[in-house]
Amino acid sequence: MIGRTEEYEKMFRLEGQLWWYRSLHERVTTSLQQVFGQRRDMAILDAGCGTGGLLNFLRWKGYTNLQGIDGSADAVAFCQQRELPVALVNLNDLAQAELLEKYDVIICNDVFCYFTDADLHPLLTGLSNRLKPNGVLVSNNNAFNLFRGEHDVAVGIIRRFVRADFARILPQHDLSIQSATYWSFVLSPLILLIRQWQRLQLVLGWHSPEEAKSDVYLPSSWINETLYRIVRTEQILLRRTPFGSSLFIISKKL
Ligand SMILES: C[S@@+](CC[C@H](N)C(=O)[O-])C[C@H]1O[C@@H](n2cnc3c(N)ncnc32)[C@H](O)[C@@H]1O
Repeated sequence: MIGRTEEYEKMFRLEGQLWWYRSLHERVTTSLQQVFGQRRDMAILDAGCGTGGLLNFLRWKGYTNLQGIDGSADAVAFCQQRELPVALVNLNDLAQAELLEKYDVIICNDVFCYFTDADLHPLLTGLSNRLKPNGVLVSNNNAFNLFRGEHDVAVGIIRRFVRADFARILPQHDLSIQSATYWSFVLSPLILLIRQWQRLQLVLGWHSPEEAKSDVYLPSSWINETLYRIVRTEQILLRRTPFGSSLFIISKKL
């Protein structure tokens, strides 16, 4: 993804409006409230913060101790336009980064999919080392290979996860899973259909991988609002669902 300026530009422009980002950002704040109640001063690091949509939302919600890092100069420049405290840091060099020594919360949304196992282990060691005891790692991830589609090709996603992957990997880094849910369960048949259709088009050569487009685009406002309401309702009514294109995990530093 790094280097694809047009993808960062789309993210920057749409992440405040698009149903998927709004649902994810609210899922994050709900989880923070479940762990920290009304506290707003925890030290929070958004690792791989992209163009800063989540940090912007957290700031708007009153969180005061925020820091972002990203390895893309495009992403950092967009964050700076929002006057967010974000630094250019390659997550492979986290140990050397000039940051707070320890954080109460580290958020790492849709970043692990860019790391092979060989790189993911050092990354998780680095993130775990930066967490205070009982600190929380919040992580959203692409789930199930079945959902691999044009979006993955466009933004360079190299892998998708299931819960068992994290159940295996996280304890090796002193992190214990507190909750894990796939989402959106209700929308999963529709998303699956679209992704499988995209895959077929790539396989048949009707679309070339070079022309692949990400799913970051704004549908008409009523579709956007309907999708947002469906996902929010699911999130409120069903705390854990067994299937979906994303896997949201909260883990705690032991
Ligand atoms: C799919 S975007 C997700 C952005 C943001 N977390 C969100 O949820 O909108 C993945 C982000 O990870 C960043 N990234 C990928 N590999 C990285 C690395 N090695 N070091 C730092 N950032 C990295 C990319 O620049 C990009 O901003």
